[in-house]
Amino acid sequence: MTKRDFIGMEEWSPQEVDRLLDLAARVKAGGVAGGLERKVLAMVFLDPSLRTRSSFETAMFLHGGHALVLEPGKGSWTLETEPGVVMDGTGVEHLIDAARVLGRYADALAVRSFPKGPDWNVERDDRIIRNFAKYCDKPVINLESVRRHPCQGLADALTLKEKLGNPAGKKFVLQWAWHPKALPTAVPASAALAAAHLGMDITIAHPPGYDLDPADMKAIQSLAVLRGGSVAVSQNRAAALRGADAVYVKSWGAVSRFGRPDEERELRAPHRDWRMTDPGTSLVMHCLPVRRNVEIDDAVLDGPYSAVYDQAENRLHAQRALLLTLIGKSA
Ligand code: CP
Repeated sequence: MTKRDFIGMEEWSPQEVDRLLDLAARVKAGGVAGGLERKVLAMVFLDPSLRTRSSFETAMFLHGGHALVLEPGKGSWTLETEPGVVMDGTGVEHLIDAARVLGRYADALAVRSFPKGPDWNVERDDRIIRNFAKYCDKPVINLESVRRHPCQGLADALTLKEKLGNPAGKKFVLQWAWHPKALPTAVPASAALAAAHLGMDITIAHPPGYDLDPADMKAIQSLAVLRGGSVAVSQNRAAALRGADAVYVKSWGAVSRFGRPDEERELRAPHRDWRMTDPGTSLVMHCLPVRRNVEIDDAVLDGPYSAVYDQAENRLHAQRALLLTLIGKSA
């Protein structure tokens, strides 16, 4: 039997994603006990985390399994990730060997790896997560890679369903926000894919130069059309937010300036006013961590329309459903 990886939500059929979301809702309601007894999840964090790490560890524990966590360079060997290199530098163990070995111990392998290099044309291939999937013979789960954060996307979809009832045809705005750093595009792409899966009418609002990768836009567009929704892009924040049912506030760096931080900072500088200060009656979403009073004001995050803690909680339930589906006793 071929193994299943979970690297991007759009790589699973809409029916499979619907089944995951239904299971997540049942799990959250307390309707599923056990199912991961004597199962092991190995997690490799090449970048930091609060929610992803703690929610996956909790998910494995709650269903009777075990999660082990490796942070290469901090207690496990520094990883070399480039294929075919002469390893006479700082990398002690190659990704190929780590992936094969962890596959012998664990039932699934989960990996977080943000962009590292200076060239978007190289980074956009998402080679690290793809190579872990290639060399590990167990299912590989993406804990946020260069291009996707599908577990966040699942949790976001679950949250939208809970908060909006049937989200199909409702207005979802993905709103860029100013941030002191150029952040990856994995979360905004995955949030838009989640809204597309739900058949929402999506507006992606950002200042000039902050277009998502064309392949991401194509994937979002295709899924939206398939599911009966639509996608628009706007550079007018106020107009985009009008009539929104949900606003997903998120910062991301300009792909067109990737690897050129000074140019990117200059492009970003005039847009500090792209901050969520007043959502009206729209649901406000963010994946967290959030820069308070930079991306979103305190009053909004702590106010009645904030869904951010529900999103964070739903990471746990969505991932319980994912783990049960991939490696559960009845999988
Ligand atoms: N949203 C999210 O992935 O949070 P962490 O980076 O803390 O895991």
